Amino acid sequence: METDTFTLARAAFERHVARFRDDVGTLPFALEAKFKHTGEVCEITEKIVAGEARFSPRDTLVFRLCALFHDISRFEQFAQFKTFLDRNSFDHGERSAALVEELGLVPELLAEDRACIIDAVRVHNKFAIPADFPSAHLDAAKMVRDADKLAILRLIIRFFTGDYSDPTIKLELPDTPGWTPSILETAMRGECVVYTDMKNVNDFKLGLFAWSCDINYPASAALALDEDLFGRIRATLPESDQVDSLLKSARIRLAALRDSNPSLRQNP
Ligand SMILES: [Fe+2]
Repeated sequence: METDTFTLARAAFERHVARFRDDVGTLPFALEAKFKHTGEVCEITEKIVAGEARFSPRDTLVFRLCALFHDISRFEQFAQFKTFLDRNSFDHGERSAALVEELGLVPELLAEDRACIIDAVRVHNKFAIPADFPSAHLDAAKMVRDADKLAILRLIIRFFTGDYSDPTIKLELPDTPGWTPSILETAMRGECVVYTDMKNVNDFKLGLFAWSCDINYPASAALALDEDLFGRIRATLPESDQVDSLLKSARIRLAALRDSNPSLRQNP
């Protein structure tokens, strides 16, 4: 039954996306990239869920639907504003949550599950999950935030290793040598680096290491380690002992989280 519900939801999602296709069915390049991103977040969600045996089929369906709908407002955002920058258009987490209601997506869902999806989608792009967030919806919010982060890290790695075909990354920072020492220190402490403090592309890359502190599930940490996401970002930065220790602390943090789930624990 769950598979059927997801298949129907996927069809409804694709019908929505089809409104932004041209006469021959092509999406604008930027929207095709967002469409693929959604597919990647769905794929990563499946992998995380597979590593976290404790979730029920009902939980799993909710998580899959969060992944499917988390960026559903990106299509109208780009169509109306020609940007993916929320500050120049609208908060895409809030708008995606509203669209789930407005479009009447997955009408067969229980009201409680629908409320959970709407809440998780709403906070997927926030700096942190709000303190007053309903505890019953936390698992879903953490899941979509993990899967989204891992998909974005993959995309950023593709970008920095020479695949510039993805228009969703727009860095308005110069690619100059060195980095800002205070940014490295902030990332070392695992604190979020503010974009406006970044002076160059290396600062942006260093800021990504703080994401290793905001991964929730052991299976997400396992996936980040298996794909060596942080090692691959480090490889695009200059030689430096400090950057090496930044990577080392991210790996230690992720390994500790992964190993907190006995079934994912690696033999020493
Ligand atoms: Fe998003």
